[in-house]
Amino acid sequence: MYIFDNFDPHTFLASYWQKRPGVFKHAFADFINPLDEHELAGLAQDPRIDSRVVSLNPPAWQVTHGPIDDFESVCQGKWSLLVQSVDQHISEADTLIRMFDFIPYWRLDDLMVSFSNEGAGVGPHLDQYDVFIIQGKGSRRWQVGEKGEFTPYLPHPDLSQISDFEPVIDEVLQCGDMIYIPAGCPHNGVALEDCMNYSVGFRAPSQQDLLSSLADYSLDLGLFKKRYQDQGLTPRKNPSELASTEINSFRAMLHDVIDSEQFERWLSCHFSDTQLNQGYDPQHNPDYSLKEIAELFEQGALFERQPGIRPIYLAKEYTSEPLEFFIEGQAYFAPVNYVDAVCGMLSSPSWQYDLTNNNLTSLSLEDFWVQLMCELVNAGAWLPQEETDF
Ligand code: SIN
Ligand code: CO
Repeated sequence: MYIFDNFDPHTFLASYWQKRPGVFKHAFADFINPLDEHELAGLAQDPRIDSRVVSLNPPAWQVTHGPIDDFESVCQGKWSLLVQSVDQHISEADTLIRMFDFIPYWRLDDLMVSFSNEGAGVGPHLDQYDVFIIQGKGSRRWQVGEKGEFTPYLPHPDLSQISDFEPVIDEVLQCGDMIYIPAGCPHNGVALEDCMNYSVGFRAPSQQDLLSSLADYSLDLGLFKKRYQDQGLTPRKNPSELASTEINSFRAMLHDVIDSEQFERWLSCHFSDTQLNQGYDPQHNPDYSLKEIAELFEQGALFERQPGIRPIYLAKEYTSEPLEFFIEGQAYFAPVNYVDAVCGMLSSPSWQYDLTNNNLTSLSLEDFWVQLMCELVNAGAWLPQEETDF
C-alpha cells in the first residue's frame, strides 16, 4: 500500500500539471521500494523488456540496450540501469503507478525504474512527456529549469543531452520525495549514492500517432469506405486546379469519420492498448473452460488483475445499453445490471478484487461472471490466484 503524505492531487492539478515543475518532499508516507536493484537487473535480462544501461567514463558516454547479460562489463564508471514498463511485471510497481489514477488511465504510460551508482545520471536533457520522479532508495540531486530553446546534441548516438541550463529547482531528494517535471523542462538528476528512482510517465499522443492508429483500426475492421462523389461537376477550365469546394468535400469526408461512433470506439480501443500482450506470462495457460472457471468461483478462488492492465470505456449513463470496455485493444461487454459491479472491478486499485462480495457461488456456466472471467483469464488479463502463486 502507498499513501500520499505531503501531496494533494487537487492542488497539484490546479497549480502544477502542465504548468510548472515542483518538488514534493515527503510526498509518500513510509515509502517502500516495490523492487530492489537485483530484481531490476533480473528484468533487464528479459528480452521482452525494454532496458538500457547509460554509463559515463569521462568524457565518454556509453549506452547499452538490453537484454543485458554481462553486467560487469557494461556497468563501468558511473552508470544507471533503466528499465521501462516495470508496472507490467511487478504487481507492487503496478500498485505504485495506480496512485496516480487521479489522472485518467489513458493518459498514463508506464513506470520506468532506474538504479544509479554514486555520481551517475543520464545527463541534462529534455523529455517530450510529463513525468513524476519518485525517489526510492538513496538520495539524488535534481536540477530543473524552465521551458526554453535548447539545442539537443548526441554524446552517444542513443543519448540526447543539452548543455547547461539555469535551474529554478535545485534540491536533494530523499526516499519518499517526488519531483514533477512537465514536458520540455530541462532537467538533470545526479545520484549522490546508490539510488533507485521511479518515473511515472504520461502519454501525450501526437496527431501523427492518432492518424496512424486510426488508419490501422479502419483497415483492420474494414471501416470508413465511403467514396467521393461529385454529381454537380461542370467543365473545368484549368484541369490542374483542385477547387476549394472539392477540398471542402474532402474535409467533410474526414469530418464524417471523426463524428462517427466508430471514432469514439477506436479511441477507447486505442488507449486500452499498452502493448502488454507482448509481456504476458509465457507460462500462462490460456485454455480455461467455463466449467473450470465456475469451479474456481465455487472454491472461492480470487482472480487477480495482471499488472499493467488499463481498462478503458466511454463515459456515459449505462442505464439502457450494455457497457463495452476495452483491455489491450480487445472489446468486452457487461449487461446493464452488471455495469456497476464490472466498473468497480475495472477501477479497483487493488489487483486482487474480491468478487465473492457479489455472491458468486453456485454459478451456472451461463452466468455472466463465469463467461466474462473465462474470457478475461484466457486473454491473460486476469488470472486465477492459483496460477500467480507458483
Ligand atoms: C533516471 O531515472 O535516471 C532518469 C530519469 C529522467 O531524468 O528522465
Ligand atoms: Co528525463
